[in-house]
Amino acid sequence: MKIKLVAQRKQKPDFSKLGFGKYFTDHMLVWEYDADKGGWQEQCIMPYEDFALDPACCSLHYGQGIFEGLKAYKTADGKVTTFRPRDNFERMNKSATRLCMANFDVDEALSGLDELIKIEQEWIPTAEGTSLYIRPFMFGTEPFLGVHPSKRFLFTIILSPVGSYYAHGLEPTKLIVEDKYTRASIGGTGEAKCMGNYAASLLAGEEAKKKGYDQVLWLDGEEKKYVTEVGSMNMAFVIDGKVVTPMLDGSILHGITRDSAIKVLRAHGIEVEERKISIEELVEASAAGRLQEAFGTGTAAVISPVGTITYKGKDIVINDGKMGKITEWLYDRITGIQRGKYADDFGWVHGIN
Ligand code: COI
Repeated sequence: MKIKLVAQRKQKPDFSKLGFGKYFTDHMLVWEYDADKGGWQEQCIMPYEDFALDPACCSLHYGQGIFEGLKAYKTADGKVTTFRPRDNFERMNKSATRLCMANFDVDEALSGLDELIKIEQEWIPTAEGTSLYIRPFMFGTEPFLGVHPSKRFLFTIILSPVGSYYAHGLEPTKLIVEDKYTRASIGGTGEAKCMGNYAASLLAGEEAKKKGYDQVLWLDGEEKKYVTEVGSMNMAFVIDGKVVTPMLDGSILHGITRDSAIKVLRAHGIEVEERKISIEELVEASAAGRLQEAFGTGTAAVISPVGTITYKGKDIVINDGKMGKITEWLYDRITGIQRGKYADDFGWVHGIN
């Protein structure tokens, strides 16, 4: 690996006012792939700087681009850790396959990330609710205009010290069920973490924001009947004391926080069902007083309580708009494992120093 360090480090932002994804560290990792040069080249850690791109760079035209999100933490005893990084890189390779992009060696990606974090560890904020967000991404760089897969890619990792994803922190979010636009359908790219999925969700998100909502709750693309995900997080509901979450049907992201939540809940004797959940079922469960909690799961969102879901102009208010007991317990458990407060029984915590 080539390492070129900055001559002078940037001034750090105020770690008590970070928000999400606004500040970037001093260095980044770049790793080029060129099919004509034998594939993956040597990784390079270098100063964080602009890319120079050919205007015909194919991903600017045809969207061959994918990304991931994971976090690094500094525990109370000074250990630097990441959470399930191998799962992120394995999922990234699956996204790459779906978009006809090159797969990479996961162990090499992991050791490159560890090296980058070692160099940037003073950027890891330590206060509750903060972390160093890690954004690996990859896009096609070959310049051409015919529609076909790129033979060149740039895999990059940038780092951003972050606080809460939502400006209102752990205050329950307000969601509106989207029944006009579609995020994904079976056979599409919904379960890949590709850039286009997020672009496709923006208009609905902006319309929801204008009406005072935080996010959109997407329905399935075929029947507009079943709840799927929120785009920035997977969803789960507590009905009659059981956690139910939409099954992974090919259109939903295989969330790593979703998977962690399911395993932690089951290990503590809380039943979890992965199945289809219709929006009507939620309306009926709410009317009968059986819908007790709703929450989202995601790297950025962590475990995020949902207070209201609006469907066809009617509000489903959950737990009087307050965070529920299982949601609060799960937030504490997941963040506690990530931060070294609870034992890492599942082997998810990856030590770096
Ligand atoms: C993440 O949770 O890491 C994501 O990639 C979601 C993104 C919309 C912030």
